[in-house]
Amino acid sequence: MALLFFSDNDDTEQWRAELEALKPDLDFRQPSDSTTENDQISYALVNPMHCPDLRNYPNLKAIFSLYAGVDALLDRTTTLPENVPIIRLISSDLSLSMSHYMVQHCLNHLRHQREYFQQSAQCLWQPLAIEANRLKVGIMGLGQLGLAAGEKLAALEFDVAGWSRSEKHSSCVTCYHGVDQLSAFLSRSHILISLLPLTSTTTDIFNKQLLKQLPKGACFINAGRGRQVVEADLIECLDSGQLSSAVLDVFREEPLPANHPFWLHPKITVTPHTASESRPCRESAQWIVDNINAIDAGGTALSGVIDFNRGY
Ligand SMILES: NC(=O)c1ccc[n+]([C@@H]2O[C@H](COP(=O)([O-])OP(=O)(O)OC[C@H]3O[C@@H](n4cnc5c(N)ncnc54)[C@H](OP(=O)(O)O)[C@@H]3O)[C@@H](O)[C@H]2O)c1
Repeated sequence: MALLFFSDNDDTEQWRAELEALKPDLDFRQPSDSTTENDQISYALVNPMHCPDLRNYPNLKAIFSLYAGVDALLDRTTTLPENVPIIRLISSDLSLSMSHYMVQHCLNHLRHQREYFQQSAQCLWQPLAIEANRLKVGIMGLGQLGLAAGEKLAALEFDVAGWSRSEKHSSCVTCYHGVDQLSAFLSRSHILISLLPLTSTTTDIFNKQLLKQLPKGACFINAGRGRQVVEADLIECLDSGQLSSAVLDVFREEPLPANHPFWLHPKITVTPHTASESRPCRESAQWIVDNINAIDAGGTALSGVIDFNRGY
């Protein structure tokens, strides 16, 4: 049983070390290993952005994505073998990192950090009132990352709601689901977070019709995917005051081009797709090894299997 690692920009040796520490009998291969026969490969661990044609490996049992988002991989369905499960990365390391990002930017909004940076640049001493009531946060996408972020925000006494495709229950997050409940969810969200996967249904979902349903002056934080945002509509909502600010980690084009209006917009914070980076760490390696062991024992993957019909 061999695992083939495909990535141009992930730390191959660190991934090898983490995986072999947990599974010493793992036969870790790279495309450069000239002795590899294609029929020796049982598992592929791939960067969705740099995934080659995987139809040439007849004994492939599963494809692991190095990232939580697999939209780039599903765009290449013609180079994916049929009937081989694709398993996206689920890791407490990813969830914690994303939670830190969301807590940081919700607190920045609550505590007027953007305004104080701007005032500071002008030597301006001007205290701003902090909302007395609990600020309401709405998280679109209440999956692995969204729910973890919601729990951390609720622990800080933000009033948190989430919106998902199917019905959910949580002791600390008020759950909304489906198109019918979207308006009610949006109308209470002073901070709107997106942690939605990119699918045909979520493409362009953040347009002016949706953003205008938020309370005036809302803050929008997007760490889902850039193609979910209609950029001209977002700028229009910021310029009109419908939105007070936006924090954007993902973009239609990455890296964000130097001449893009988002860079210099006074109400936009840009981060370079680093809200939660996939790293070769023990938690992520454990996830992969647990799934390999389950499949090798004759079972199926534990969770994280992509449903091609849903698109995530
Ligand atoms: N910026 C970064 O650094 C970074 C890092 C990692 C991931 N991401 C992004 O975060 C996304 C989410 O990751 P995850 O691990 O949390 O995924 P996940 O566990 O699959 O959760 C996805 C959530 O979105 C909901 N959803 C999907 N389509 C929907 C729709 N049409 N309407 C309503 N809800 C919908 C799902 O609803 P159900 O629960 O009903 O299925 C689920 O709650 C990834 O796909 C990726 O794009 C970004």
